[in-house]
Amino acid sequence: MVPMNFYVLTLFPEMVTEGLHTSVLGRGIDKGAISIEAINIRDYAINNHGQVDDGPYGGGAGMVMRPEPIYDAFEDLCSRLGRRPRLLYMTPQAQVFSQAMARELAQETDLVFLCGHYEGVDERVLEILEAENVSIGDYVLTGGELPAMVMIDCIGRLVPGVLHNDESTLDESFGAACVGGLLEYPHYTRPEMFMGRAVPPVLLSGHHKNIADWRREQSIRRTRERRPDLLG
Ligand code: ADE
Repeated sequence: MVPMNFYVLTLFPEMVTEGLHTSVLGRGIDKGAISIEAINIRDYAINNHGQVDDGPYGGGAGMVMRPEPIYDAFEDLCSRLGRRPRLLYMTPQAQVFSQAMARELAQETDLVFLCGHYEGVDERVLEILEAENVSIGDYVLTGGELPAMVMIDCIGRLVPGVLHNDESTLDESFGAACVGGLLEYPHYTRPEMFMGRAVPPVLLSGHHKNIADWRREQSIRRTRERRPDLLG
């Protein structure tokens, strides 16, 4: 099994490692299906004071992350790997991440996420390193760590060996087997009756065809109600 390796260039490495080494991804790491490494940009600071940012040319509020530490951190990683992986810069000024992008990115062996902070990152280092911009939605967060974690969670679960059975990425909302992109049907477990509400009887019938038909119907209804935009 060739693992998929995620690298996160960040000023807050513990946020990333502690957040992602749990639950499903944590198990994926233990099984050797994926690896997640946070690289502290401050280890590449421009001086002994640990400086990684500076005031913006042209004036204005806030600080901008200097190019040198980011450049050095990425180049150091490339030398260590002996290859130049794709570099994704987390920014709200970009195309919004989607399940389709996750499926495409899950084909890579290595992915590097660059997390900005403060007002952002010196533009030149993004150009020189040919960073690809990715947003996770039309809202503004304080830094790129949460977006990187969202993307790693989403991409990581698509890597073979991370989830328990390979079926489970196929049968759900936005999953590959959901042609037409329907939302998933509702789920029920024991007890059969909860606060006066019964489990839909068809699910107790043991009739596979009827159950499949019911689930498909529920998927369509749910998509029409909650995400009519998906029905086109
Ligand atoms: N950094 C700040 N907000 C962001 C967003 N919505 N997506 C990606 N990176 C971000």
